[in-house]
Amino acid sequence: MKVVLAYSGGLDTSVCIKLLQEKYKFDKVITVTVDVGLDEKELKEAEEKAYNLGVYKHYTIDAKEEFVKNYIFKAILFNANYEGYPLSTALARPLIAEKVVEVAKKEDADALAHGCTGKGNDQFRFENVFRSLYPRARIIAPIRELNLTRRESIEYAKKHNIPIPVDIDKPYSVDENLWGRSIEGGILENPLKEPPEEIFKWTKLTNDKDEYLEIYFEDGLPVEVNGKSIEPVKMIKELNKIVGSHGVGRIDIIEDRILGIKSREIYEAPAAYAILNMHKSLEQMVLSRREIRFKEIIDSEWSELIYYGLWYEPLREDLEGFVEKIRRRVKGLVVAKLGRRSFEIVSRDSPFSLYKREIVSFDEKSLQKSLDGMLFYHSLQSMLYKSLRI
Ligand code: ARG
Repeated sequence: MKVVLAYSGGLDTSVCIKLLQEKYKFDKVITVTVDVGLDEKELKEAEEKAYNLGVYKHYTIDAKEEFVKNYIFKAILFNANYEGYPLSTALARPLIAEKVVEVAKKEDADALAHGCTGKGNDQFRFENVFRSLYPRARIIAPIRELNLTRRESIEYAKKHNIPIPVDIDKPYSVDENLWGRSIEGGILENPLKEPPEEIFKWTKLTNDKDEYLEIYFEDGLPVEVNGKSIEPVKMIKELNKIVGSHGVGRIDIIEDRILGIKSREIYEAPAAYAILNMHKSLEQMVLSRREIRFKEIIDSEWSELIYYGLWYEPLREDLEGFVEKIRRRVKGLVVAKLGRRSFEIVSRDSPFSLYKREIVSFDEKSLQKSLDGMLFYHSLQSMLYKSLRI
């Protein structure tokens, strides 16, 4: 019997390899690591570790470009935001799951597995795609089914000589991709406590000088950074570096998980933070107020579908149809000023701007005289209401 496991090389998925062999009795475990912006060295180590644990085959799939073009770009168009979270982990899950299914089909596997716990959101995201694209497979979630705590996973790993990347005193669970880093667990579970500096990797303050950041958008997407056109994967990496060096892009929130559990979540997402803010400010200049109001609904609906892992809910595609037209006017240059842990938008310009200086300016006479009647009717119902004796 063959099983394909979504494998990151981290604690839980490494433990899953052994569990699938020993407890679930699969003779062939195939591991798939999908590179959505992982460390080269960690990818190599994950592969070695998989073979050391006796997997039948291992696949490392480079999906960085696909992740940026088909997932991150959508997140930008929809101003991805769930309770303040730019959806980094959530966004990568359906892509990872899809790649796992591709391997499973090629290998004619009987089962699909993931290492998610029973408490989080990722189980929903993986399984939506597994079930939709490969319904005949048995789905196995060892950590959830065996109800393992993090400590038990660590103990199991030690007993079976599985090298573990985490220190038992610092049991953070980290998920990383191009769009952000998510950090949970350990002391972070106490919402009273400020997160220790050691958990951060991308937003350490290393640059003390103010710096301008210019992004040029076309069709709602960033195409140039500081005057240079730059290919998508590199752009996101660059922006993580530039913005992160100013200590910008940290998010610390209490988040409502799918199950209704409130959890304390820490994110580092410097590129996402900058791009999303700049994109939104450009929309504010080119879209009408009704479009802006309506798009807020569309954006939050899309974001919620992604958070909830409903990648194959048809509404997602319907909403994506909506942005296809509106995005064409989201074109122009936005400039932000980066300082010590600060980020401010200081300038914007667009050929499709609905902002007209000659209309707004206090220095122009223009239409002021014709307003009398409009002002009267604008307050008509207020006047009628206040004239009543109630
Ligand atoms: N709360 C976030 C989400 O649901 C992050 C999950 C992070 N996962 C992890 N294994 N650390 O998308």
